[in-house]
Order: sequence, then structure tokens, then C-alpha cells
Amino acid sequence: MAESQIALNAPENAPEELKRWVLGVAELTQPDSVYWVDGSIEERDRLYAEMVASGTLIKLNEEKRPGCYLARSMPSDVARVESRTFICSEKEEDAGPTNNWAEPAEMKKTLAKAFHGSMRGRTMYVIPFSMGPLGGNISKLGIEITDSPYVVVSMRIMTRAGTPAMERIAAGEYWVPAVHSVGYPLRDAQGNTRPDVPWPCNDEKYITHFPETREIWSYGSGYGGNALLGKKCYALRIASVIARDEGWLAEHMLILRIIGPDGRKYHLTAAFPSACGKTNLAMLRPTIPGWRVETIGDDIAWMRPGPDGRLYAINPEAGFFGVAPGTSEKTNPTALHALTHDTIFTNVALTDDGDVWWEGMTDEPPAHLIDWQGKEWTPASSTPAAHPNSRFTVRADQAESISPVWEDPAGVPVDVILFGGRRASNVPLISESYNWRHGVFVGATVSSEQTAAAEGAVGSLRRDPFAMLPFCGYNMADYWGHWLRMGEILGDKAPRIFQVNWFRKGPDGKFLWPGFGENSRAIEWALRRVNGEIGAADAISGRLPIRGDLNTAGLFIPDEQLEQLFALDPAAWAEEANLTEEYFAMFGDKLPPEMTHELAALRERIAQAQGN
Ligand code: OXD
Ligand code: MN
Repeated sequence: MAESQIALNAPENAPEELKRWVLGVAELTQPDSVYWVDGSIEERDRLYAEMVASGTLIKLNEEKRPGCYLARSMPSDVARVESRTFICSEKEEDAGPTNNWAEPAEMKKTLAKAFHGSMRGRTMYVIPFSMGPLGGNISKLGIEITDSPYVVVSMRIMTRAGTPAMERIAAGEYWVPAVHSVGYPLRDAQGNTRPDVPWPCNDEKYITHFPETREIWSYGSGYGGNALLGKKCYALRIASVIARDEGWLAEHMLILRIIGPDGRKYHLTAAFPSACGKTNLAMLRPTIPGWRVETIGDDIAWMRPGPDGRLYAINPEAGFFGVAPGTSEKTNPTALHALTHDTIFTNVALTDDGDVWWEGMTDEPPAHLIDWQGKEWTPASSTPAAHPNSRFTVRADQAESISPVWEDPAGVPVDVILFGGRRASNVPLISESYNWRHGVFVGATVSSEQTAAAEGAVGSLRRDPFAMLPFCGYNMADYWGHWLRMGEILGDKAPRIFQVNWFRKGPDGKFLWPGFGENSRAIEWALRRVNGEIGAADAISGRLPIRGDLNTAGLFIPDEQLEQLFALDPAAWAEEANLTEEYFAMFGDKLPPEMTHELAALRERIAQAQGN
């Protein structure tokens, strides 16, 4: 359609500035039509019907999974693409050594070429959305423009999308602009057409962030974190920059409320690298009698000091975009039950009766399936039936564990922050930081052992500071500095910081700790520390439970195994300190001096332990 003919179809209340921006994007991308998402049920049902007709979605068995759909992506578009993710800050040093940087003007030129005509033959959807409860003082607004109806229905689950968000934008509230195209136009500049495909995308991908202008442009992928721009792009990369400037925290953390036998409520946030069981922990079913967990969020926390000086957290998202494989009645019954209706599944396997299956869902796989690529599958097949990164997209309030306060616009006061990684050795089950500064050091040095071959080998660590490695929108060392400043602001009201490791292995290569619901025992210990009920033993990594304080009643765990869970080998820690020094060197003079002091303090504790 020629530029002058594009009908904006904007709602009456759309501000001029917004209309100009949408028109500019439409002129660049040249869609056939523009549609503004209102968030209604009719709209959702129409989009689902259109996508079933076009082959993008398969409707699942209405009796077994009412309101559920299956999408199969292109095999080349199954995950976030960190190598194609860019922070386009004006200065390279502001992106820092852990991000891909691109010069903003250059990237804008590249994007202008890629987006030029990229929506020809398609509808351009304009999605007003709120991250966090509408109108909450920690919440923020955004608008995503996309040519993917799959993105629209997903954003409707993952954010509060539609007319109420539009009304706040119309009233003049701040919003972040985000533009997305799958990069698969159906018509070229000469008017030659091609048919659509079930999962349009492009081999060339750009997931770009402009921290100074707080814009997001994403091209070429239809998948999850690359395309649902409210999630990683806004709520973490751009929000971390806004948070730095405004004095709050945008973190890759789950949020849960845990209620003790005496009815006391505590709130906890926890950062773990991707695929370390965050959704499972967010939906924890404590094994210790009398304790109960309510879920508030499974991936992202926005935290701000409240009027009483404590740190308050909200979940900016409205849904869960969780990894399906491994989710079972044993590992996470709450998630499994949430997925019984109104869920979008992506890249899981299809059963003969129109239901879904993934590895780990049941002990015995079905005798026949259609795999995530649409191919015949039997248990004799050599490839997994569901892609290892296959996902479910579901509204948060479908979880039976959802907290009654999960949408409280004021957020919940945070008592405890956990940092976790996947470590076969060295890192104990739980360890309390000596103070906020030490906690920031612990967060900055979080690492995971990635592959079975590398397990136990200290040299194979992948650093994932604060679990933010792929999500921090600015220089990681400046980010640590921001955390240190937040500690000063919070003072003695700051949450207590603990490090946990559910993944430690014994000499026989087996996990030492049963994990899942039993993780409540470590959390209970942390809460008893917060309450000042019990002491702790100073050690290399931090403060450890005194023998007998970790509640192991009803858990068959030999003393020797418990000792191995908490054993700290000074020589291995000395090696770890050397690696930390090497790692810190990468940040040059941006590294906050407090981090160097903490490394020296760690070395002193190691020396002391060696002397004993
Ligand atoms: C996610 C991730 O999808 O961290 O949440 O990769
Ligand atoms: Mn995540």
C-alpha cells in the first residue's frame, strides 16, 4: 500500500505523538492495514481462529485441553539469540564487556533497511500494554508494534494489554516504544506476492536496545524473548537502565510469599540463571509441615524502596512463559495443573488424541506422537519429541498457588534475596552473606557449570552475575555499583542476601540434595536467621547453619551427606578466588572498589581456614 493510503485506525484517545510514531513505523514497514489491540475476548477468539485457519496454531482437543493451542516454530527460531542481541548505547563502554555493542546511528541505518517494507501483505498490530498492575507506582507502560498475531495473543497473556493501558497512555503517562517484525513480507516492492508460512521469520535477526532513547527494535524472530518485547527487552534490558537512573532495581528474579506455621508471611526474591528451575521454586510445595508458598512471579522482579524504607517488589508480567520439558506431577504439579486450559504451547509434541506431551511429563512416553517439527515420533526415535526449550504461555492466575497479593500495585516487602547457580562442587546448600556488600559480591560472582563433561571442573564455570548476563542493559560493573548504592539507601531495612545451590554432587556424581519441595528447608533456615532465632557459623563463603539448625526432620539424609553439602575446601576456593580476580579484570577501572575489597576479604577467610 502506498504511504499516503495507510489508514491508521487509531482509537480516538490516541495522542498525536503516538499517532505520529505509529504512522512513521507504518510508512517504513508498509503493512496492508493497522489494527489497535483492545484486549477483548472477541479479539482474542478472532485471532485464534485466524491463526488456526492459516496453520500457525493447531487447536488442541477441546475436551482434554479447553482453550489450548499448539504452535510449531521454524527449527532455526527456537530460542533467544544472544549473539544477535545488541545494546546500542552511545558509548561502547556503557554496554560493557558482557554485551554486544553496536553504534546507535549505524544500527538505526541497518534496521531502517531491514524494516523497510517488512510488513507488506500483513496487518500491523499496535499493542498498548502495562508491565505491572495498571496504575501501580512501580508499573510502567509500553507499546509494541508487531506483524505477528502469535505475538499479539502471547502479549495478551504475558502483559496487561489493551484499552486500559491505552487510556493511561492517552492521559499522558510515560511509555516505551518497541517495534517488532518477523521479517517475512508477503509482497515485494514490485508487487510480486508469496504465500505465508505457519511460522514466518528471517535468517537475519536483530534484537536491539537503545538505552539513551529507551527504544526497542526487534527483527527476524517470532520466538519468546526475541519477540514478546515486554519481557526480556523491556522488563530487564531497558528497565535496568531506567531503574539505574531512577533509583530502583529491575531483576531476573522470581518472587514468592512463604507463610510459616504461625501465619507469619515472608517475601523472597531469587535470581537463578535460565533453566535452573525458577518456575519450580516460584511454585514450591514445602515438605516441612505447616509451611505454604504463594506464587507472585516466576521470572522478573521490579523492586523499589517504599515509604517505610523497605524494598517492595512487583512482578511486571501477567503470565508465565515457562520451559515445558521436565514439568510433571512430581516436579511441579502446580504448573501442570495451570496448563489444563487456556494455554499456548510452543514446540511441544502432539499426542494422537490432540493433547500435548514433553520429555519428563510422564515416566513412560506415549507409543506414538507427532514431534515438535511435525514428524512422526515413537519412543525408539533418536531425537526428543518436544524441543528442549519448548514452552507454555499461560496467565499467572491460572496457577492454584497464585498469591492474593500478586497484583498489589504497592508490591510486597522483600525479606530475603537468594542467588543461585548450578554448581556440582564448592558452593554449599545455603550460605548467608555477611552484609549487603558481601551479598553484591556473591551475586556478581554467581556461576554455573554447564555441561556434564565439565562438571566438577572449576575451570569450566560460566559466570552469570545476578543471572543478568544476557539481560543487563548497561555496563555490568556499573550495575554492581548501582546495587551497592541501593544498599546504602536501604541501610538496615535492606533484605538479607543468601546464596543457595540445589545442585551439589557427591564423589559418586549423584545429587546430594533432593531439591524441589525440600528446598523449603533451606528457606526456613534463612527465615529463622532473619528472625534472629538462631546463630550461624562464619565460614569462607558466608555464614553456614550450625549443626542441627537445618530442619531435616522426616528427610532421610545421612550425616556424611549433609557434611558434603556444606563442605568448603580452602584450596578449591583459593582457585575460585583466582578466577574471580581474572573475571573482574575484564571490567577495568569500572569495577567498584568494594568488589576488590570483598575479594580480599574472601582471600583472608580462605587463608584463615588454611591456617586452621
Ligand atoms: C527465560 C530465560 O526464558 O531466562 O526466562 O531465558
Ligand atoms: Mn528468565
